[in-house]
Amino acid sequence: MINERVRARAETLVSALDAHMLASFAPDARKELRRFSAGEVAELLGVSTSFLRKLHFDGKAPEVETSSGGRRQYSAEDILALRTLLDTGKAKGSYLPGRRDGEKLQVISFLNFKGGSGKTTSTVHTAQKLALKGYRVLCVDVDPQASLTVLFGFRPEYDFLEQGTLYDAIRYDDPLPLSAVIHPTFFPGIDLAPGGLMLQEFEHETPRALLENVQPAFYGRMAAALAEVEDAYDVVLFDCPPQLGYLTMAALCASTSVLITIVPNMLDVASMAQFLQMCADLLDVVAEAGAPMSFDFMRFLINRYEPNDGPQQQVVSFLRTLFAGEVMIAPMLKSTAISDAGLTQQTIYEVERGQFNRQTYDRALESLNTVNDEIEQLLHDAWRR
Ligand SMILES: Nc1ncnc2c1ncn2[C@@H]1O[C@H](COP(=O)(O)OP(=O)(O)OP(=O)(O)O)[C@@H](O)[C@H]1O
Ligand SMILES: [Mg+2]
Repeated sequence: MINERVRARAETLVSALDAHMLASFAPDARKELRRFSAGEVAELLGVSTSFLRKLHFDGKAPEVETSSGGRRQYSAEDILALRTLLDTGKAKGSYLPGRRDGEKLQVISFLNFKGGSGKTTSTVHTAQKLALKGYRVLCVDVDPQASLTVLFGFRPEYDFLEQGTLYDAIRYDDPLPLSAVIHPTFFPGIDLAPGGLMLQEFEHETPRALLENVQPAFYGRMAAALAEVEDAYDVVLFDCPPQLGYLTMAALCASTSVLITIVPNMLDVASMAQFLQMCADLLDVVAEAGAPMSFDFMRFLINRYEPNDGPQQQVVSFLRTLFAGEVMIAPMLKSTAISDAGLTQQTIYEVERGQFNRQTYDRALESLNTVNDEIEQLLHDAWRR
């Protein structure tokens, strides 16, 4: 019987995955972020290594761990302490670049209904880079698949099986405040509202809630939940599921900006055309119902880019011709460093350079940094800096 076979395969997989997770992380041990070299810290802070050394020499910088070879190794908390130290006087705002009075919270949805187009990968890399740059980031896992939640070292099927996901904050029946489901993560500067299978309930419950006119309606629920915590963050990132359901619409309607991830091949572009059409139709409906519809920016983010692939080049120039400035200048390179890091639920910013082929790692890092710098610039544009 097919049902029994499916169940058997599910059970085999679940236990194999458990074993894999146990091998990657000790039981109950949370993920821990690696330390950063003086060179990396200087680059993140935008200072020279000699300036950094002098801060230590003058006893101004907090003491940090040293490796057996005597090299300083900084935790992300150390980097943040340095930012706080340096962010004074004339330099105010340049080391702690978060939003200032009058600048509104930036909420970005990573979107596309094509599975595997890189929504989760871009969300997590952007979140981590912005956090390392000193922004206060909230990641919201809008996907019942909960891939983003897993990347932060949680096990949705154990940690939040019954409760504790974003669902509890947007459900129609007695919702919790969003703060009740937000968790700090192993990555300083990033909090997470986890996803999980329970989120699927939102798709099932919304039709009834619409009939019964429960307020706020689905498109207002994510925004209403965010309002409670918005003072605590500079940037919120929504990792959307690969479907255009009520969850995605709710995330979109709470967003100030959208990044549509796209793999440059014709099938994906054709699928994106349909997606955009459906999206526009649905947005028409919710706009009529009164949902806010003004975005600061919308960009196409090219992912899995292979500079030597002729057909891809053509698709990219096709997109740039059609959408001009709406295609991000920086693409995300297709890189085995990104997919290999993903195998152990890590990102390029988490792994040690030494574990990878240097050239492969450096190219992936450079590509992601350029993408994230461009996103940071878009945030600053939205804040009119
Ligand atoms: N630039 C890249 N180079 C190599 N591998 C990549 C790249 N971007 C993403 N991947 C890999 O592709 C897979 C799918 O990516 P990801 O999970 O980010 O897509 P997604 O759009 O979130 O998928 P879904 O629609 O299922 O949520 C992951 O295993 C990821 O490691
Ligand atoms: Mg995803």
